[in-house]
This record gives sequence, C-alpha cells and structure tokens, in this order.
Amino acid sequence: MTLTPGSHVLVTGGAGYVGSVCATVLCEQGYRVTVIDDLSTGNRAAVPSEATFVEGDVLDAAPSVLADDCAAVFHFAAKSLVGESVETPAKYWHGNVVTTLQLLDLMRAAGVDNLVFSSTAACYGEPETVPITEEMPTRPTNPYGATKLSIDAIITSYAAAYGLGATSLRYFNVAGAYGEVGENRAVETHLIPLVLQVAMGFREKIFIFGDDFPTADGTCIRDYIHVRDLADAHLLAATSNEPGTHRIFNLGSGDGFSVRQVIDTCREVTGHPIPAEVAPRRAGDPATLIASSARAVADLGWRPQRSDLHTIVQDAWSFTAGLGDRAHAARR
Ligand code: UFG
Repeated sequence: MTLTPGSHVLVTGGAGYVGSVCATVLCEQGYRVTVIDDLSTGNRAAVPSEATFVEGDVLDAAPSVLADDCAAVFHFAAKSLVGESVETPAKYWHGNVVTTLQLLDLMRAAGVDNLVFSSTAACYGEPETVPITEEMPTRPTNPYGATKLSIDAIITSYAAAYGLGATSLRYFNVAGAYGEVGENRAVETHLIPLVLQVAMGFREKIFIFGDDFPTADGTCIRDYIHVRDLADAHLLAATSNEPGTHRIFNLGSGDGFSVRQVIDTCREVTGHPIPAEVAPRRAGDPATLIASSARAVADLGWRPQRSDLHTIVQDAWSFTAGLGDRAHAARR
C-alpha cells in the first residue's frame, strides 16, 4: 500500500520519548496515526492529541489497527535499558525479540508490508575504529543490543521471503526535545536529562562515570543526535521502503562530545554552575561512539538540521524548564 499523508499508520511505543516525537511529526504531516502503548515506561500526555491512542499490549491491540487500512508500522515499543538487560535478559528477549517476531507475523497476516524499526548503536558493541559504518562488525556487549541485532536477522529474512519492505534505524545518543515532547522518564539514566535536572535543582550534582578513558579529557565521547532529526529519518525511511528489501542505517551527527563537554554546554545554556563529581566507570561503557551517517545521507536524503550540541541542549532545556512550570501550575 502506498504511504502518503492521509494514510493510516501504526506507531507502537508512541508514548515513549522517540516514539511520541515521531507520532507528533507524523500527525503534523497529515498521517492518520494510531499509537499503541502499554504505558509501562511511556507517558500518556506525550501522545499527540490528533492520534488515536490504544492503551495496552502491542500484540493484543495490533490486529484491529492493522486491519484498518494500515499502510505502515513504526515499531518503537521495546525494553531499552542496557543495565536492566544484563540483570533480566528474559524480559528483553521476550519483550523485544518475541514481541517483534509476533508483530511481524500479524503484519504478514494483515498484508501490511512497510516497517520502520527502532534500533540502536548498541548493536556494534565496542568499536575498533570510529566513525562506525553499517559494514562494521556487530558484537553487542549486552542483551539489549543483542536483542535488537537478532531482530534485524528476522527482518532480513522476512523481507527476502515474504516481501516485507523494512528499514532499521540504529540510533546513537538521542537527545533534545520537540516542543512539549521530550525526555521524561520515571527512571532516568541518560546524561543530558540528568545534567539538566541538576540545573533545575532536582539533583545536587552530576556524577561523571570515569575520567580515565583514552580520550582527550578522559571522559567518554558520544555522538548526540536531535530527536526531531531522528523523526525525519523515520519518515524518509517509511516513504522509500521497497517490498523485499531490508535497509539498515546509522543515525548520528558524525561529531563526538565528551561527558565534560556536554556538562559545559549545559552550563552555558542554563547559566547554572552544575556541580560535577568524578565517580567510578559504569560497567560496559565504550570510550568513544561516533556514527557515520553517510549511508542515510546518501540513500535517504537525510539532512539533520538541529543536531549541533548547543541546539540539542537548548531544546532539551526549554522542555525541562517547561516541565517544571507545568508541574508547578498543576500543583496550584
Ligand atoms: N554518564 C555520566 N553520568 C551520568 C549518566 C551518564 O557520566 O549520570 C555518561 C555515561 O557513562 C556515558 C555518557 O554519559 O559515557 C552517555 O551516557 P547515556 O546513558 O546518556 O547514554 P549511553 O551512551 O550509555 O547509551 C546510548 C543509548 C543506549 C544505547 C547505547 C549504546 O541511550 O540506548 O548508547 O552504547 F544502548
């Protein structure tokens, strides 16, 4: 089925951070969006008001959504915490691999052949060189990355045998916000939102997990990509998927910033001193992760517009400060 504005699309996990921004952009571009989310980690308020929202298990809710002239599926619903995946791998293999396999079978039964799959840099593990291209070895160092990589093998074979047209997008460090949709998790582990919580006065200081890595200032280097640019890539992927083909793209800015550089940028943007203290390394953190997104630029025509670190932090800060205002308003 051709995908054009007006088409019905399913967004699983559309109450989560990246899923809700993509759902918002899809609504803005005129798509008819149904979000399925069990709200285990997502926020109901992040689902755009124009979307139809179904609260519940993806596999229970998907058949009727897929049967309703659905032209494409954007599959975000997943477990996505590295540390948790090491402690409770069963939750990850079932929640990510088994659920996606069953969703693919439901799509096949309903004749829906267009998929965009939310994946991760964790598929590569510890790289030998950067920037990381899609041809480099995939050696995930935790169950989270292993589940996402396994799903790619399933998708590749379904594309070849059953005519699925699919794209897997391997995100590097997603950050920033889009208006009133941003990072707002019950349990936060990501650097930028944690640093901004210090600036908001919700935390006393930020811990820097290790300053003895082989990098210029000793702290880990990551490639931060704006969530709004990421949403563009999803649309470009869905509108160019070809039946029988599975494409894989890395999505990053191609620039690396150390933990200290991120904290400095947050200080500049917020005007807050943001106390920081060096703490031991976090298990499993690679020293440097930088993407090559050359393939996405060449094949999808992807042009990130907002992925410089200052804009990312500025947008995240506007969102975080707004959250504080909204919480304050709600208490009055
Ligand atoms: N960090 C700190 N202090 C904190 C939080 C993070 O120093 O309080 C550091 C981390 O050690 C890391 C960097 O900040 O060096 C970024 O950490 P994040 O937790 O924000 O992000 P990660 O790079 O660990 O994780 C990202 C994605 C994951 C993906 C992983 C691939 O969020 O989904 O990259 O390695 F699995």
